[in-house]
Amino acid sequence: MGGPNLLRSMLSLSDREGEKIVPVILNGVQGGMPPIPMSPADAKAVASYVRSVLGTIGGQGKPPSEQAPPSILVGNAEAGKVFFDSKCAGCHSATGDLKGIATKISDPKILQNTWVAGARGGRGGARSGKPITVAVTPKAGKTVEGRLIRIDDFVVTLEMPDGTARSFGREGDSPKVVVNDPLAGHRALLPVYSDKDMHNVTAFLVTLQ
Ligand code: HEC
Repeated sequence: MGGPNLLRSMLSLSDREGEKIVPVILNGVQGGMPPIPMSPADAKAVASYVRSVLGTIGGQGKPPSEQAPPSILVGNAEAGKVFFDSKCAGCHSATGDLKGIATKISDPKILQNTWVAGARGGRGGARSGKPITVAVTPKAGKTVEGRLIRIDDFVVTLEMPDGTARSFGREGDSPKVVVNDPLAGHRALLPVYSDKDMHNVTAFLVTLQ
């Protein structure tokens, strides 16, 4: 999506305890990144996460994923199938849309990242797949629909089909805003599974050759 690679960014490489990264998160970058609404404490935690990833990089600036990671195939495929049947099968089928997923995505680590995120990471981890859209209906006026750029309690901004951006001020229920996130199901699952479930599901998905 045009953001710099944080593994090669001077700003993140020189961050010590959030003093460089936190202001970028909270204030955004002119002409590029919007401010991300979160508490300073959360922003600091994100900064320390970025530093922890940087800390795993090898000599030649290799991305961390290229350093022979320990196998993540430590789960139990049968237990994974049971979890899949109860939590995933409402939207997916092992013999339908996910048939051959382990052939399409042959690296178990990428496969795990894909199902946890619900979308294949593109370059730089930008998500591929269907975008989040939003429909805004002002009190007097027609519904406007487009890709969601940003939403908070006060403003919703969307990208119109012609590529222009439009913002609407929000006050309580006005205008009416309906967000459609194709991956809401995946996000809703995040707090549901344990690490063990996650490993089991991946072990099961790997069998879908
Ligand atoms: C509420 C519906 C829903 C649930 C529940 C759900 N998914 Fe998904 N999943 C989706 C949607 C929608 C996509 C994105 C499809 C797209 O963008 O084309 C997706 C994408 C995926 C992908 C990527 C497929 C590809 O071809 O890149 C995998 C793998 C996946 N889900 C696995 C799972 C697993 C495993 C579970 C259970 C732990 C699960 N999903 C639960 C709706 C759901």
